[in-house]
Amino acid sequence: MNDQLKLSVARSFDRASQTYSEHGHLQRQVSNMLLQRMARVYEAQPKASCLLDLGCGPGVNLDVLSTYCAQYIGLDLSAEMLRQSQRLQDAKLMAIETGDTRASCRWVQADMDALPIAPASLDIIFSNLAVQWSSQPKPLLQRLVDCLRPGGHAFISTLISGGMQPLADLRASIDGKQQVNSQLDLQQWQQMLPNSATVDVQWVPSRVTVYSPTLRQLLGDIRGVGANVQTHQARALTPRLYRQLMQHYEDFREPSGLPLHYEVLCIYINKAVSC
Ligand SMILES: C[S@@+](CC[C@H](N)C(=O)[O-])C[C@H]1O[C@@H](n2cnc3c(N)ncnc32)[C@H](O)[C@@H]1O
Repeated sequence: MNDQLKLSVARSFDRASQTYSEHGHLQRQVSNMLLQRMARVYEAQPKASCLLDLGCGPGVNLDVLSTYCAQYIGLDLSAEMLRQSQRLQDAKLMAIETGDTRASCRWVQADMDALPIAPASLDIIFSNLAVQWSSQPKPLLQRLVDCLRPGGHAFISTLISGGMQPLADLRASIDGKQQVNSQLDLQQWQQMLPNSATVDVQWVPSRVTVYSPTLRQLLGDIRGVGANVQTHQARALTPRLYRQLMQHYEDFREPSGLPLHYEVLCIYINKAVSC
C-alpha cells in the first residue's frame, strides 16, 4: 500500500468515526470472539500493566479492555477515530472504573507499519479487524511479538480471502472483474509467524455472517465503518448496476435478511515466559 492509499485509508476512517458504532456489527461480533478468549486466558491472573489496542478505532472496546490493565494504549492511523475514543472517555460514557483503580489511557496516532512501541513493553496486545490494513503484515507480526514481554499474549483478528460473499461474486459477475479488496489466505498468514520454542501461535479461521434487511443498509454498513476504501481501481456503482445487484442479491435472502459472509482469522500468540 503506497502513502497515497494510506492517506485515503486514514481519511475514510476519519469520516466514519461518528457513524462507526452504529454500523460496526461485524466488528462487534469478532471483538466478542477475541474478548471471550482473553477472559479465559486472564481468568485467574492479576491485572496486566500495559495493554495495546492496535487500530483501536473510536474506542468501542476501551471499557472492557481497561479492566485488564493499569495502562491502556489506543493506537490508530485516524486522528478522528482517536478523538472520538478520547471523547467517549472524557464524557465518562464508558465505565472505565476498574475496582479501586482506573486504567490510565494514552492515545497514539501512528501507522502500525512503523510502530512507535518499545520492545518488551507490553503484556497484552488486542487488535480487532485492523491488521488487514497493514502493508507489511509479516514484519508487523514479528514486531508485535518483539513488543510483548515474556509471558505476554496477543489477541488479533483479521479478514482473510474468500469473504464478502455473495457481494464479491455478484459484483464481479455484473462488472466483469473483482470489485472488493483482496485479502491474504490462511496459509500466507501462517507462513509469516511459525511456531517456535519461544512463541506459541494458534490460527483459528471462522465464517462470520452479518444480515441486513436491505442492500442499501448492507452497503451503508460497509461505508459506515470506513472499510469502503479500495486498494485497487474499482468501478463506481451506477444506478443501473445498483438495480442489477439488488435484483440478484434477493436470490440469497434468508429469513434473517440479506447475508454477507466474512472469512475471519483469529491469531492467538503467547510469548514464552523464559525467552
Ligand atoms: C475496522 S476498524 C476496527 C476498529 C476497532 N478495533 C474495533 O474493534 O471496532 C479498523 C481500524 O484500523 C485503523 N487503521 C487502518 N490502517 C491503519 C494503520 N496503518 N495503522 C494504524 N491503524 C490503522 C483504522 O483507522 C480503523 O480505526
